Amino acid sequence: MLGNFEFANKTKLYFGEDSLNYLNTELPKYGKNVQLIYGGGSIKKNGIYDKVVEILKAGGKEIFEDGGVMPNPTVEKLYEGVEIARKNHVDLLLAVGGGSCCDYAKAVSVSVNCSEDPWEKYYVKFEEPSCELVPVGCVLTMVGTGSEMNAGSVITNHATKQKIGHVFADENVMPRFSILNPKFTYTLPERQMVAGIYDIFSHICEQYFSGEDDNTSDYIAEGLMKSLIHSSRIALKNPQDYEARSNIMWTATWALNTLIAKGKTTDWMVHMLGQAVGAYTDATHGMTLSAVSLPYYRHILPYGLQKFKRFAVEVWGVETVNKSDEQIALEGLDAMEGWMRELGLAMNLRELGVTEDMIEGITQSTLIMNGGYKVLTTEEIVTILTQSLE
Ligand code: NZQ
Ligand code: ZN
Repeated sequence: MLGNFEFANKTKLYFGEDSLNYLNTELPKYGKNVQLIYGGGSIKKNGIYDKVVEILKAGGKEIFEDGGVMPNPTVEKLYEGVEIARKNHVDLLLAVGGGSCCDYAKAVSVSVNCSEDPWEKYYVKFEEPSCELVPVGCVLTMVGTGSEMNAGSVITNHATKQKIGHVFADENVMPRFSILNPKFTYTLPERQMVAGIYDIFSHICEQYFSGEDDNTSDYIAEGLMKSLIHSSRIALKNPQDYEARSNIMWTATWALNTLIAKGKTTDWMVHMLGQAVGAYTDATHGMTLSAVSLPYYRHILPYGLQKFKRFAVEVWGVETVNKSDEQIALEGLDAMEGWMRELGLAMNLRELGVTEDMIEGITQSTLIMNGGYKVLTTEEIVTILTQSLE
Protein backbone atom coordinates (compact mmCIF):
# COMPACT_ATOMS: atom_id res chain seq x y z
CA MET A 1 0.00 0.00 0.00
CA LEU A 2 1.60 3.27 -1.12
CA GLY A 3 1.99 6.35 1.03
CA ASN A 4 0.16 7.46 4.14
CA PHE A 5 -3.58 7.76 3.96
CA GLU A 6 -6.70 8.19 5.99
CA PHE A 7 -9.95 6.38 5.49
CA ALA A 8 -13.26 7.50 6.91
CA ASN A 9 -16.68 7.27 5.42
CA LYS A 10 -19.43 9.09 7.21
CA THR A 11 -22.35 7.70 5.25
CA LYS A 12 -24.57 5.29 7.12
CA LEU A 13 -26.06 2.76 4.70
CA TYR A 14 -29.38 0.99 5.05
CA PHE A 15 -29.57 -1.87 2.57
CA GLY A 16 -32.29 -4.30 1.52
CA GLU A 17 -35.90 -4.54 0.47
CA ASP A 18 -37.18 -3.14 3.79
CA SER A 19 -34.55 -0.42 4.06
CA LEU A 20 -36.94 2.50 3.51
CA ASN A 21 -38.31 1.79 7.00
CA TYR A 22 -35.05 3.19 8.35
CA LEU A 23 -35.96 6.65 7.09
CA ASN A 24 -37.96 6.83 10.34
CA THR A 25 -34.78 6.18 12.29
CA GLU A 26 -32.93 9.00 10.56
CA LEU A 27 -35.56 11.75 10.39
CA PRO A 28 -35.66 12.68 14.09
CA LYS A 29 -31.97 13.63 13.85
CA TYR A 30 -32.82 16.65 11.66
CA GLY A 31 -35.05 19.71 11.92
CA LYS A 32 -38.53 20.09 10.56
CA ASN A 33 -37.90 21.48 7.08
CA VAL A 34 -37.04 18.95 4.40
CA GLN A 35 -36.20 19.83 0.79
CA LEU A 36 -37.44 16.85 -1.21
CA ILE A 37 -35.21 16.57 -4.26
CA TYR A 38 -36.17 14.35 -7.19
CA GLY A 39 -35.88 14.05 -10.95
CA GLY A 40 -38.25 14.15 -13.88
CA GLY A 41 -41.01 12.07 -12.38
CA SER A 42 -39.99 8.39 -12.33
CA ILE A 43 -40.56 8.27 -8.56
CA LYS A 44 -44.12 9.47 -9.00
CA LYS A 45 -44.83 6.70 -11.53
CA ASN A 46 -43.34 3.86 -9.50
CA GLY A 47 -44.82 4.89 -6.15
CA ILE A 48 -41.58 5.70 -4.31
CA TYR A 49 -42.59 9.37 -4.03
CA ASP A 50 -45.81 8.48 -2.19
CA LYS A 51 -44.01 6.18 0.20
CA VAL A 52 -41.37 8.79 1.06
CA VAL A 53 -43.92 11.59 1.48
CA GLU A 54 -46.00 9.41 3.79
CA ILE A 55 -42.98 8.76 6.03
CA LEU A 56 -41.99 12.44 6.03
CA LYS A 57 -45.51 13.53 6.98
CA ALA A 58 -45.79 10.88 9.69
CA GLY A 59 -42.49 12.21 11.04
CA GLY A 60 -43.98 15.71 11.30
CA LYS A 61 -41.81 17.20 8.58
CA GLU A 62 -42.63 20.15 6.41
CA ILE A 63 -41.87 19.29 2.79
CA PHE A 64 -40.40 21.75 0.29
CA GLU A 65 -40.62 20.30 -3.18
CA ASP A 66 -37.59 20.47 -5.47
CA GLY A 67 -38.38 18.24 -8.45
CA GLY A 68 -37.18 18.38 -12.03
CA VAL A 69 -33.52 17.61 -11.40
CA MET A 70 -32.39 16.60 -14.86
CA PRO A 71 -29.86 13.87 -15.70
CA ASN A 72 -26.51 15.72 -15.69
CA PRO A 73 -27.80 18.53 -13.43
CA THR A 74 -27.10 22.06 -14.60
CA VAL A 75 -25.69 25.09 -12.86
CA GLU A 76 -29.00 26.95 -13.40
CA LYS A 77 -30.88 24.21 -11.56
CA LEU A 78 -28.29 24.42 -8.78
CA TYR A 79 -28.98 28.14 -8.30
CA GLU A 80 -32.70 27.35 -8.15
CA GLY A 81 -32.18 24.66 -5.50
CA VAL A 82 -30.03 26.97 -3.39
CA GLU A 83 -32.83 29.56 -3.43
CA ILE A 84 -35.42 27.01 -2.26
CA ALA A 85 -33.12 25.95 0.58
CA ARG A 86 -32.37 29.53 1.65
CA LYS A 87 -35.93 30.74 1.48
CA ASN A 88 -37.28 27.88 3.55
CA HIS A 89 -34.36 27.44 5.97
CA VAL A 90 -34.21 23.74 5.20
CA ASP A 91 -32.68 21.35 7.71
CA LEU A 92 -32.27 18.32 5.45
CA LEU A 93 -31.78 17.84 1.70
CA LEU A 94 -33.39 14.50 0.87
CA ALA A 95 -32.47 13.27 -2.62
CA VAL A 96 -34.73 10.55 -3.98
CA GLY A 97 -33.32 9.39 -7.29
CA GLY A 98 -30.06 8.54 -9.01
CA GLY A 99 -26.61 10.08 -9.05
CA SER A 100 -27.93 13.28 -10.57
CA CYS A 101 -30.25 13.99 -7.62
CA CYS A 102 -27.65 12.97 -5.09
CA ASP A 103 -24.84 15.02 -6.73
CA TYR A 104 -27.17 18.00 -6.98
CA ALA A 105 -28.12 17.73 -3.31
CA LYS A 106 -24.44 17.86 -2.35
CA ALA A 107 -23.90 20.91 -4.57
CA VAL A 108 -26.85 22.66 -2.90
CA SER A 109 -25.54 21.58 0.51
CA VAL A 110 -22.19 23.35 0.11
CA SER A 111 -23.76 26.46 -1.46
CA VAL A 112 -26.70 27.42 0.79
CA ASN A 113 -24.60 29.23 3.38
CA CYS A 114 -21.88 30.37 1.00
CA SER A 115 -21.80 33.96 -0.28
CA GLU A 116 -19.57 33.17 -3.26
CA ASP A 117 -20.74 31.85 -6.63
CA PRO A 118 -20.80 28.04 -6.26
CA TRP A 119 -19.84 27.31 -9.88
CA GLU A 120 -16.73 29.52 -9.62
CA LYS A 121 -15.78 28.35 -6.15
CA TYR A 122 -16.34 24.62 -6.38
CA TYR A 123 -16.22 23.71 -10.09
CA VAL A 124 -13.73 26.21 -11.52
CA LYS A 125 -11.39 26.76 -8.58
CA PHE A 126 -12.05 23.37 -6.89
CA GLU A 127 -12.15 24.99 -3.45
CA GLU A 128 -13.43 23.23 -0.36
CA PRO A 129 -16.48 24.52 1.51
CA SER A 130 -15.77 26.95 4.31
CA CYS A 131 -19.41 27.44 5.34
CA GLU A 132 -21.87 25.39 7.33
CA LEU A 133 -23.26 22.49 5.24
CA VAL A 134 -26.90 21.45 5.08
CA PRO A 135 -27.03 17.66 5.66
CA VAL A 136 -27.84 15.39 2.72
CA GLY A 137 -29.74 12.09 2.81
CA CYS A 138 -30.33 9.83 -0.17
CA VAL A 139 -32.91 7.26 -1.24
CA LEU A 140 -31.26 5.65 -4.24
CA THR A 141 -33.31 4.58 -7.27
CA MET A 142 -30.62 4.24 -9.96
CA VAL A 143 -27.38 2.35 -9.50
CA GLY A 144 -24.01 3.32 -10.93
CA THR A 145 -22.37 6.51 -9.74
CA GLY A 146 -21.58 5.61 -6.13
CA SER A 147 -22.76 9.12 -5.23
CA GLU A 148 -24.72 7.57 -2.36
CA MET A 149 -21.49 7.05 -0.39
CA ASN A 150 -18.99 9.56 -1.72
CA ALA A 151 -18.25 13.27 -1.77
CA GLY A 152 -18.39 13.64 -5.55
CA SER A 153 -20.71 16.10 -7.27
CA VAL A 154 -20.83 16.66 -11.02
CA ILE A 155 -22.47 19.78 -12.47
CA THR A 156 -22.89 20.76 -16.12
CA ASN A 157 -22.57 24.30 -17.42
CA HIS A 158 -24.01 24.39 -20.94
CA ALA A 159 -23.07 28.04 -21.45
CA THR A 160 -19.35 27.30 -21.09
CA LYS A 161 -19.67 23.74 -22.45
CA GLN A 162 -18.18 22.21 -19.32
CA LYS A 163 -19.19 19.21 -17.25
CA ILE A 164 -17.10 19.20 -14.12
CA GLY A 165 -16.91 16.82 -11.21
CA HIS A 166 -15.59 17.94 -7.86
CA VAL A 167 -14.66 15.15 -5.49
CA PHE A 168 -14.63 17.10 -2.26
CA ALA A 169 -11.87 16.27 0.19
CA ASP A 170 -14.19 17.23 3.03
CA GLU A 171 -15.88 13.97 4.03
CA ASN A 172 -18.76 15.98 5.54
CA VAL A 173 -19.99 16.48 1.97
CA MET A 174 -20.86 12.76 1.83
CA PRO A 175 -24.51 11.95 2.46
CA ARG A 176 -25.22 11.42 6.16
CA PHE A 177 -27.26 8.36 5.24
CA SER A 178 -28.30 6.46 2.14
CA ILE A 179 -31.14 4.02 1.72
CA LEU A 180 -30.45 1.27 -0.80
CA ASN A 181 -33.41 -0.85 -1.79
CA PRO A 182 -32.52 -3.00 -4.84
CA LYS A 183 -36.22 -3.33 -5.69
CA PHE A 184 -36.43 0.44 -6.23
CA THR A 185 -34.21 -0.07 -9.28
CA TYR A 186 -36.52 -2.60 -10.98
CA THR A 187 -38.40 0.09 -12.93
CA LEU A 188 -35.24 1.45 -14.58
CA PRO A 189 -35.36 1.15 -18.37
CA GLU A 190 -32.81 -1.41 -19.62
CA ARG A 191 -30.72 1.34 -21.22
CA GLN A 192 -30.29 3.07 -17.85
CA MET A 193 -29.58 -0.20 -16.07
CA VAL A 194 -26.75 -1.14 -18.44
CA ALA A 195 -25.38 2.42 -18.50
CA GLY A 196 -25.17 2.21 -14.71
CA ILE A 197 -23.49 -1.20 -14.86
CA TYR A 198 -20.85 0.16 -17.19
CA ASP A 199 -20.37 3.25 -15.03
CA ILE A 200 -19.56 0.93 -12.11
CA PHE A 201 -17.14 -1.09 -14.23
CA SER A 202 -15.45 2.07 -15.43
CA HIS A 203 -15.05 3.39 -11.88
CA ILE A 204 -13.23 0.20 -10.97
CA CYS A 205 -11.04 0.31 -14.12
CA GLU A 206 -10.12 3.94 -13.47
CA GLN A 207 -8.69 2.97 -10.10
CA TYR A 208 -7.22 -0.37 -11.23
CA PHE A 209 -5.31 0.70 -14.35
CA SER A 210 -2.63 2.69 -12.60
CA GLY A 211 0.64 1.74 -10.94
CA GLU A 212 2.68 -1.44 -10.91
CA ASP A 213 2.86 -2.02 -7.17
CA ASP A 214 1.25 -4.95 -5.38
CA ASN A 215 -1.65 -3.66 -3.28
CA THR A 216 -4.81 -5.03 -1.70
CA SER A 217 -6.99 -2.43 -3.44
CA ASP A 218 -6.34 -4.05 -6.84
CA TYR A 219 -7.35 -7.50 -5.54
CA ILE A 220 -10.58 -6.05 -4.15
CA ALA A 221 -11.14 -4.35 -7.52
CA GLU A 222 -10.80 -7.69 -9.34
CA GLY A 223 -13.36 -9.28 -7.03
CA LEU A 224 -15.81 -6.44 -7.61
CA MET A 225 -15.34 -6.67 -11.39
CA LYS A 226 -15.97 -10.44 -11.39
CA SER A 227 -19.11 -10.09 -9.31
CA LEU A 228 -20.37 -7.28 -11.53
CA ILE A 229 -19.80 -9.15 -14.80
CA HIS A 230 -21.51 -12.25 -13.39
CA SER A 231 -24.54 -10.39 -11.99
CA SER A 232 -24.90 -8.14 -15.03
CA ARG A 233 -25.50 -11.14 -17.28
CA ILE A 234 -28.20 -12.45 -14.95
CA ALA A 235 -29.86 -9.03 -14.60
CA LEU A 236 -29.90 -8.57 -18.36
CA LYS A 237 -31.88 -11.79 -18.77
CA ASN A 238 -34.08 -11.21 -15.75
CA PRO A 239 -34.13 -7.61 -14.48
CA GLN A 240 -36.17 -8.70 -11.46
CA ASP A 241 -33.57 -11.14 -10.17
CA TYR A 242 -33.14 -9.76 -6.65
CA GLU A 243 -29.82 -11.46 -6.02
CA ALA A 244 -28.26 -10.00 -9.17
CA ARG A 245 -29.73 -6.50 -8.73
CA SER A 246 -28.71 -6.36 -5.07
CA ASN A 247 -25.16 -7.50 -5.92
CA ILE A 248 -24.92 -4.80 -8.57
CA MET A 249 -26.18 -2.16 -6.14
CA TRP A 250 -23.66 -3.12 -3.46
CA THR A 251 -20.82 -3.32 -5.99
CA ALA A 252 -21.62 0.20 -7.22
CA THR A 253 -21.32 1.61 -3.73
CA TRP A 254 -17.97 -0.06 -3.00
CA ALA A 255 -16.59 0.76 -6.43
CA LEU A 256 -16.57 4.46 -5.64
CA ASN A 257 -16.62 5.16 -1.95
CA THR A 258 -12.83 5.77 -1.82
CA LEU A 259 -11.96 2.24 -0.57
CA ILE A 260 -10.30 0.82 -3.69
CA ALA A 261 -8.35 4.01 -4.36
CA LYS A 262 -6.51 3.68 -1.07
CA GLY A 263 -2.77 3.04 -1.10
CA LYS A 264 -2.40 3.36 -4.86
CA THR A 265 -2.42 5.78 -7.78
CA THR A 266 -5.48 6.12 -10.04
CA ASP A 267 -6.18 7.18 -13.62
CA TRP A 268 -9.65 8.73 -14.35
CA MET A 269 -8.88 9.59 -17.98
CA VAL A 270 -11.92 7.73 -19.36
CA HIS A 271 -14.13 9.89 -17.14
CA MET A 272 -12.41 13.08 -18.28
CA LEU A 273 -13.05 12.13 -21.93
CA GLY A 274 -16.61 11.04 -21.12
CA GLN A 275 -17.43 14.22 -19.22
CA ALA A 276 -16.17 16.39 -22.07
CA VAL A 277 -18.40 14.39 -24.43
CA GLY A 278 -21.26 14.90 -21.96
CA ALA A 279 -20.72 18.67 -21.97
CA TYR A 280 -21.24 18.67 -25.75
CA THR A 281 -24.04 16.12 -26.05
CA ASP A 282 -25.75 15.80 -22.65
CA ALA A 283 -25.61 12.03 -23.32
CA THR A 284 -26.13 9.41 -20.59
CA HIS A 285 -22.99 9.31 -18.44
CA GLY A 286 -22.32 5.55 -18.65
CA MET A 287 -22.68 5.60 -22.44
CA THR A 288 -20.14 8.39 -22.84
CA LEU A 289 -17.70 6.16 -20.97
CA SER A 290 -18.43 3.00 -22.97
CA ALA A 291 -17.99 4.86 -26.26
CA VAL A 292 -14.42 6.01 -25.50
CA SER A 293 -13.09 3.20 -23.28
CA LEU A 294 -11.76 0.65 -25.77
CA PRO A 295 -9.88 3.11 -28.02
CA TYR A 296 -8.36 4.62 -24.88
CA TYR A 297 -7.34 1.31 -23.30
CA ARG A 298 -5.98 -0.11 -26.56
CA HIS A 299 -3.95 3.09 -26.92
CA ILE A 300 -2.36 2.93 -23.46
CA LEU A 301 -1.99 -0.87 -23.32
CA PRO A 302 1.72 -0.89 -24.29
CA TYR A 303 2.50 1.46 -21.37
CA GLY A 304 0.74 -0.70 -18.77
CA LEU A 305 1.20 -4.10 -20.36
CA GLN A 306 1.65 -6.13 -17.16
CA LYS A 307 -1.54 -4.75 -15.60
CA PHE A 308 -3.55 -5.35 -18.76
CA LYS A 309 -2.20 -8.92 -18.81
CA ARG A 310 -3.23 -9.39 -15.17
CA PHE A 311 -6.70 -7.97 -15.99
CA ALA A 312 -7.06 -10.48 -18.86
CA VAL A 313 -6.10 -13.44 -16.72
CA GLU A 314 -7.71 -12.57 -13.38
CA VAL A 315 -10.92 -10.90 -14.55
CA TRP A 316 -11.61 -12.56 -17.90
CA GLY A 317 -9.89 -15.94 -17.46
CA VAL A 318 -7.82 -15.61 -20.64
CA GLU A 319 -5.56 -18.67 -21.23
CA THR A 320 -1.84 -17.85 -21.25
CA VAL A 321 -0.13 -20.93 -22.75
CA ASN A 322 2.08 -20.17 -25.79
CA LYS A 323 0.96 -16.54 -25.97
CA SER A 324 2.93 -13.31 -25.71
CA ASP A 325 2.10 -10.87 -22.93
CA GLU A 326 0.71 -8.49 -25.52
CA GLN A 327 -1.53 -11.16 -27.03
CA ILE A 328 -2.91 -12.06 -23.59
CA ALA A 329 -3.51 -8.40 -22.73
CA LEU A 330 -5.28 -7.74 -26.04
CA GLU A 331 -7.48 -10.80 -25.57
CA GLY A 332 -8.54 -9.37 -22.20
CA LEU A 333 -9.77 -6.19 -23.89
CA ASP A 334 -11.47 -8.29 -26.58
CA ALA A 335 -13.34 -10.18 -23.84
CA MET A 336 -14.33 -6.89 -22.27
CA GLU A 337 -15.59 -5.67 -25.65
CA GLY A 338 -17.67 -8.84 -26.06
CA TRP A 339 -19.31 -8.24 -22.67
CA MET A 340 -19.97 -4.59 -23.49
CA ARG A 341 -21.69 -5.60 -26.73
CA GLU A 342 -23.76 -8.21 -24.85
CA LEU A 343 -25.02 -5.42 -22.58
CA GLY A 344 -25.92 -3.27 -25.59
CA LEU A 345 -23.81 -0.27 -24.60
CA ALA A 346 -23.00 2.65 -26.86
CA MET A 347 -19.83 1.56 -28.67
CA ASN A 348 -19.10 4.77 -30.54
CA LEU A 349 -19.53 8.51 -30.18
CA ARG A 350 -21.49 8.93 -33.38
CA GLU A 351 -24.52 7.24 -31.82
CA LEU A 352 -24.37 9.78 -28.97
CA GLY A 353 -24.60 12.65 -31.45
CA VAL A 354 -20.93 13.56 -31.74
CA THR A 355 -19.78 14.84 -35.14
CA GLU A 356 -16.27 15.52 -36.52
CA ASP A 357 -16.60 19.26 -35.99
CA MET A 358 -17.04 18.74 -32.22
CA ILE A 359 -13.74 16.86 -31.76
CA GLU A 360 -11.65 19.99 -31.30
CA GLY A 361 -14.00 21.45 -28.69
CA ILE A 362 -14.30 18.15 -26.81
CA THR A 363 -10.51 17.89 -26.81
CA GLN A 364 -10.21 21.39 -25.32
CA SER A 365 -12.80 20.48 -22.68
CA THR A 366 -10.94 17.31 -21.62
CA LEU A 367 -8.92 17.65 -18.44
CA ILE A 368 -5.64 15.72 -18.71
CA MET A 369 -4.85 13.53 -15.70
CA ASN A 370 -1.40 12.26 -14.78
CA GLY A 371 -2.06 9.09 -12.78
CA GLY A 372 -2.53 6.62 -15.63
CA TYR A 373 -0.01 4.66 -17.68
CA LYS A 374 0.48 7.49 -20.16
CA VAL A 375 -0.04 11.23 -19.78
CA LEU A 376 -1.91 11.99 -22.99
CA THR A 377 -0.91 14.79 -25.33
CA THR A 378 -3.57 16.88 -27.04
CA GLU A 379 -2.82 15.02 -30.29
CA GLU A 380 -3.42 11.67 -28.58
CA ILE A 381 -6.79 12.89 -27.27
CA VAL A 382 -7.77 13.88 -30.81
CA THR A 383 -6.68 10.41 -32.03
CA ILE A 384 -8.66 8.58 -29.32
CA LEU A 385 -11.79 10.68 -29.87
CA THR A 386 -11.53 10.21 -33.63
CA GLN A 387 -11.13 6.44 -33.20
CA SER A 388 -14.17 6.49 -30.88
CA LEU A 389 -16.34 8.17 -33.50
CA GLU A 390 -17.17 4.97 -35.43
O1 NZQ B 1 -35.39 11.93 -13.58
P1 NZQ B 1 -36.19 10.71 -13.40
O2 NZQ B 1 -37.57 10.80 -13.92
O3 NZQ B 1 -36.15 10.19 -11.98
O4 NZQ B 1 -35.52 9.57 -14.34
C1 NZQ B 1 -34.19 9.13 -14.17
C2 NZQ B 1 -33.23 9.65 -15.24
O5 NZQ B 1 -33.92 9.93 -16.43
C3 NZQ B 1 -34.15 7.65 -14.41
N1 NZQ B 1 -34.42 6.87 -13.20
C4 NZQ B 1 -33.76 6.89 -12.03
N2 NZQ B 1 -34.25 5.97 -11.20
C5 NZQ B 1 -35.26 5.34 -11.86
C6 NZQ B 1 -35.38 5.92 -13.13
N3 NZQ B 1 -36.31 5.53 -14.03
C7 NZQ B 1 -37.15 4.53 -13.67
N4 NZQ B 1 -37.06 3.90 -12.47
C8 NZQ B 1 -36.14 4.28 -11.54
N5 NZQ B 1 -36.05 3.61 -10.37
O6 NZQ B 1 -32.83 7.38 -14.82
C9 NZQ B 1 -32.31 8.50 -15.53
C10 NZQ B 1 -30.89 8.74 -15.11
O7 NZQ B 1 -30.80 9.15 -13.77
P2 NZQ B 1 -29.47 9.86 -13.26
O8 NZQ B 1 -29.62 10.15 -11.82
O9 NZQ B 1 -29.12 10.99 -14.18
O10 NZQ B 1 -28.37 8.71 -13.51
P3 NZQ B 1 -27.03 8.40 -12.78
O11 NZQ B 1 -27.28 7.76 -11.46
O12 NZQ B 1 -26.20 7.67 -13.75
O13 NZQ B 1 -26.36 9.83 -12.49
C11 NZQ B 1 -25.66 10.52 -13.50
C12 NZQ B 1 -24.96 11.76 -12.97
O14 NZQ B 1 -24.01 11.41 -11.95
C13 NZQ B 1 -22.70 11.90 -12.32
C14 NZQ B 1 -22.78 11.88 -13.83
O15 NZQ B 1 -21.77 12.65 -14.44
C15 NZQ B 1 -24.17 12.42 -14.09
O16 NZQ B 1 -24.19 13.82 -13.99
N6 NZQ B 1 -21.64 11.12 -11.68
C16 NZQ B 1 -21.45 11.24 -10.35
C17 NZQ B 1 -20.40 10.62 -9.70
C18 NZQ B 1 -20.14 10.76 -8.25
N7 NZQ B 1 -20.95 11.47 -7.49
O17 NZQ B 1 -19.17 10.24 -7.74
C19 NZQ B 1 -19.43 9.79 -10.41
C20 NZQ B 1 -19.87 9.37 -11.76
O18 NZQ B 1 -18.73 9.04 -12.50
C21 NZQ B 1 -20.70 10.37 -12.50
O19 NZQ B 1 -19.86 11.30 -13.15
ZN1 ZN C 1 -18.88 7.48 -13.66
